[in-house]
Amino acid sequence: MKYAEIQWRDSQPFSPDYEDIYYSSTGGREESEYVFLQHNHLVSRWQAMVAGEHFVIAETGFGTGLNFVLTMKAWAEQARPEAVLHYITIEKHPVSPEDIKRVAANWPELAETYEELLAVYPLPVEGEHCRALLGGRVQLHLVFADVIDALESRELQVDAWYLDGFGPDKNADLWSDQVFRLIEKNSGQGATLSTYTAAGFVRRGLQAAGFEVSKVKGHGKKREMITAVLNHKRPMQSTAPWYELEKINYQHKQAVIIGAGLAGLTTAWSLVQRGWQVSLVEKHKNIAEEASGNPAGLLMPRLSIDNKTDAQFYTTALLYAAYCLDRLQHNDTEQFWFHEGVYSIFKAGKAEKLINRHGYAKQFIDILQQHDLKNYIEDKDATVSFFPEAGWASPKGICESLLRACGASLRLINQNVTDIRQIDNQWQALDERGQGIASAEVLIIANGVGANQFDTVSWLPVSSVRGQITEIAASKSSVALNKALSFDAYVTPEYKGKHYAGATYRVNDDNAQLTQEEQDETVSHLEQCLPGVFATPTRLKGRVGFRPVSDDMTPIVGIMPDKEAFTEDYKELHHGRPNTQYPSAKYLSGLYINAAHGSRGICSSFLSAEILAAMIVNEPLPVSKNIADYLSPARFLMRKLKRGELLS
Ligand SMILES: Cc1cc2nc3c(=O)[nH]c(=O)nc-3n(C[C@H](O)[C@H](O)[C@H](O)COP(=O)(O)OP(=O)(O)OC[C@H]3O[C@@H](n4cnc5c(N)ncnc54)[C@H](O)[C@@H]3O)c2cc1C
Ligand SMILES: C[S@@+](CC[C@H](N)C(=O)[O-])C[C@H]1O[C@@H](n2cnc3c(N)ncnc32)[C@H](O)[C@@H]1O
Repeated sequence: MKYAEIQWRDSQPFSPDYEDIYYSSTGGREESEYVFLQHNHLVSRWQAMVAGEHFVIAETGFGTGLNFVLTMKAWAEQARPEAVLHYITIEKHPVSPEDIKRVAANWPELAETYEELLAVYPLPVEGEHCRALLGGRVQLHLVFADVIDALESRELQVDAWYLDGFGPDKNADLWSDQVFRLIEKNSGQGATLSTYTAAGFVRRGLQAAGFEVSKVKGHGKKREMITAVLNHKRPMQSTAPWYELEKINYQHKQAVIIGAGLAGLTTAWSLVQRGWQVSLVEKHKNIAEEASGNPAGLLMPRLSIDNKTDAQFYTTALLYAAYCLDRLQHNDTEQFWFHEGVYSIFKAGKAEKLINRHGYAKQFIDILQQHDLKNYIEDKDATVSFFPEAGWASPKGICESLLRACGASLRLINQNVTDIRQIDNQWQALDERGQGIASAEVLIIANGVGANQFDTVSWLPVSSVRGQITEIAASKSSVALNKALSFDAYVTPEYKGKHYAGATYRVNDDNAQLTQEEQDETVSHLEQCLPGVFATPTRLKGRVGFRPVSDDMTPIVGIMPDKEAFTEDYKELHHGRPNTQYPSAKYLSGLYINAAHGSRGICSSFLSAEILAAMIVNEPLPVSKNIADYLSPARFLMRKLKRGELLS
């Protein structure tokens, strides 16, 4: 993805590609307010909201963010202070922050709101970027994607739509019948819609999609515009009923989480920010004693060339994690996060392939044609690249900061959970004597390599992979490496006289002691990549940890399926009956999992936690439904059922 090209005409942005303006050159602000805010009757609807409700606006064409900024300002002034607005906006050609700044200069009265937006505005990377504004009262979901891809892969319940593409004659793909059908699919009952155009085919397309359409007076000198309402939402037939998520309304905002590592603590933080109380049960005396106890690790994404869903999850997860870490670090006095970027060395051709395949912007990954590192690295054909939004962190420090950020909303209980059970809608975590440790309607399994230790979830394919990191004393030559480096291993830059390098990868190995063999392996990797730069450690020093991994090497995030019901309801699946003939999935109400973050937990855990929290409180997800399904624990059952391997 790259930023939209903008031409400036009297301080007004113009798109040479679409040959159209972003907003009306006369009274842009007034027109936006008139068309979108007034004609969706937002203020009166917001004021009629009852406690606990949220409001969802979706927009086709974020552009310069004018509609968003006006809506956020109106929300700040007119909505109940505890209510949350989800603003989902789709944009295929993101406008650069510099251009948005230039637009903002037209409206000094909006400067503060624009500034808040610009402070969290993401890089032009395909996928959804969620950012909290106005102290969490506004959740912006910026979906950088084509409108059809974005709406096809979502299951939203939108309350009000802003249709704000370029003129229908210039931007046909934003105004097609397919888009109108997808708008209906993603609408809640009673959804309203408005747009500045009165084009006949737009009116007819919306009517065909089920909307009741009216023509009303347009803004200023414009004769007409369109408003519409969806009074009769048609029932949808899911093509993957096994991933259909029933809306569950929990009575109390209380959860039990098992495991105080990155997965458990990020989940706790996501829930606490939504006003929940969390009981966090940890078997060790301190938090982050297992995989998340390392002194250092890299925030880097996994970048698959062929698996687009995987690459999109990890790239948006990286940007989301960096954004969360910045916020945490900003409010903390202990330093645990180094947002300095990461150099990455790829074998010849690989970085270029990744960039071509996914269209990564150079703000996300930049190939450095000339760089000092080139003088040091052994493989002269390799590509040196730079990920500016990546960095390195102390996972233990992150966990401690998360604990502080949760404050009094989190109660830490140091006990070993040996089983879980549900009685009268309450999930209980039990000790070895069968006594309850903590209970709530919602229980989240986030206990790393122990994720499948409880009977109810023993079928989950989770195992552990041993890893060792090595501490290396900084030397005269090694301090020249001013940022973390990732190659087929990684090394952090000098901090307090040390580097950390890692990590080895050993399956079926439960040895918790450091080994010389693995330390030598790490040192030799470093030596091969950067000969003569690092001193060889004179003694064994480092840390051993066990990565929680699933058998498809992907995190497991979501509500737990009812295995017996799945096995019965979908037993015919391998015979090939149409998917729509199967009943909706049955999940275990209140039981969730956030686990198997493998070698990338710093990257994946923050976004996973948000996915889970959004599911629990019935908010729009912060990712596409494709990604949510990709992470779902039900995937393992579905694979077996499709192969006819799981028989009741
Ligand atoms: C050597 C090594 C290097 C790594 N390097 C990186 C890196 O550079 N970048 C990166 O992103 N990731 C890295 N990782 C991966 C990352 O550390 C993990 O993905 C992440 O820490 C997993 O977090 P978690 O919360 O799922 O698991 P854990 O941190 O293991 O947390 C699980 C918690 O649950 C507790 N628990 C378990 N069972 C019970 C029970 N029955 N009752 C109560 N409590 C229980 C445990 O004590 C533990 O505190 C590395 C991992 C290792 C091992
Ligand atoms: C008129 S502008 C939107 C103005 C915007 N709402 C504002 O407040 O500045 C239309 C936007 O639609 C985007 N767009 C055009 N075709 C698109 C598509 N197929 N999918 C998503 N966005 C698209 C354009 O890049 C452009 O930013």
